[in-house]
Amino acid sequence: MTARGLACRETIARTPCDPGLYLALAPMDGVTDHVYRELLTGLRGGRSGISQCVSEFVRVTRDVVPEHVIRRHCPEVDHGGTTRAGVPVFVQILGGDEGPMADTAAAAAALGAPGIDINFGCPAKTVNNHDGGATILKTPQRVERIVSAVRRAVPDHVPVSVKIRLGWDSADPVTDIARAAEAGGGAWLTIHARTRLQLYKPPVDWVSIGRARQAVSFPVVANGDLNTPDDVAACARASGCDAFMIGRGAMGRPLVFRQVRGELEPDLDLPWLVDVLDDYAQRLCAAGATERAALGRVKQWLRLAAPAFPQMRELFDVLKRQSDLAPMRQELSRWRTADRPASDRYRPDSTASRTACSPPPVAGPPSCA
Ligand SMILES: Cc1cc2nc3c(=O)[nH]c(=O)nc-3n(C[C@H](O)[C@H](O)[C@H](O)COP(=O)(O)O)c2cc1C
Repeated sequence: MTARGLACRETIARTPCDPGLYLALAPMDGVTDHVYRELLTGLRGGRSGISQCVSEFVRVTRDVVPEHVIRRHCPEVDHGGTTRAGVPVFVQILGGDEGPMADTAAAAAALGAPGIDINFGCPAKTVNNHDGGATILKTPQRVERIVSAVRRAVPDHVPVSVKIRLGWDSADPVTDIARAAEAGGGAWLTIHARTRLQLYKPPVDWVSIGRARQAVSFPVVANGDLNTPDDVAACARASGCDAFMIGRGAMGRPLVFRQVRGELEPDLDLPWLVDVLDDYAQRLCAAGATERAALGRVKQWLRLAAPAFPQMRELFDVLKRQSDLAPMRQELSRWRTADRPASDRYRPDSTASRTACSPPPVAGPPSCA
């Protein structure tokens, strides 16, 4: 498949089972909270090109997770399960005990989650040492058991998707893991093209996603280092996939979803991005974040995007010394688009200042990085 072939696919598939092109925003703990989801899906007047979002993971241990915790992770459940732009947000759950996982999924579905996503990819030691995330990949039978229990617990119309890495220390078992997810009743499978051992180190292995795809008959969504439309096209050729999930790439190119759909957008527009970051900081504070937390989030955005977008390193280096929001915003203003014609400037979503829901506190650093 070529970039041109993908670009013709303007129809937004809300799931990989629908006609059109499915381009999901990847969940990133400590990053993609409701403020971030609202910001990204609201870009270009709500025509961001994003098919679907997934919440940060809800950690499930021995007991069913209380409703207020699910709501904190996914306040969209109180608003039809979508962002204001109408993009569905699945609730992601993480754990190794199928009983509480199933009960928590049922609670999330009852609250209004349009779907449940199961996280078998988290590489964090604290999570893996307590029987969660990628550690489950060592035993594909456990993947099947957990998916099956969650599937049985939620109504038929609520899809249960599964997110994995290629394996724990090798990509060999990816076909067995994919078959297990399908046998358990998963609606589709998203694969981050790295093993747990690799964490986030190169290289990504899109070819192994293709092996998994050929072993199953449900949709497989490719993920990992899809930073540009050309990356997506290359991944499509290597994996045979036609559905994709993008995480860090959207931090350097928040309009990448539109670009992959063939919309003409400026490539890497740092002044525009600076306006986005300023809007982000303001939204975080409006949602109840302390100034320090908002500043931390902006720095984190730049730090996570810098490896793929070296131009953002310079900005990060300038801002990393700031410890207060006001000077940081002043510093940002040097990079802003004030001297541009009004028609060419970043326009925050006019509904942004309306609080969609009682704002849950904005949390600290990620635990699944
Ligand atoms: C800071 C950070 C937090 C993440 N948190 C989650 C998470 O909560 N759930 C999950 O399934 N994946 C999580 N991931 C993995 C991403 O969803 C994605 O699989 C990975 O970043 C590769 O995609 P990308 O190269 O497009 O970023 C996280 C990644 C990062 C960098």
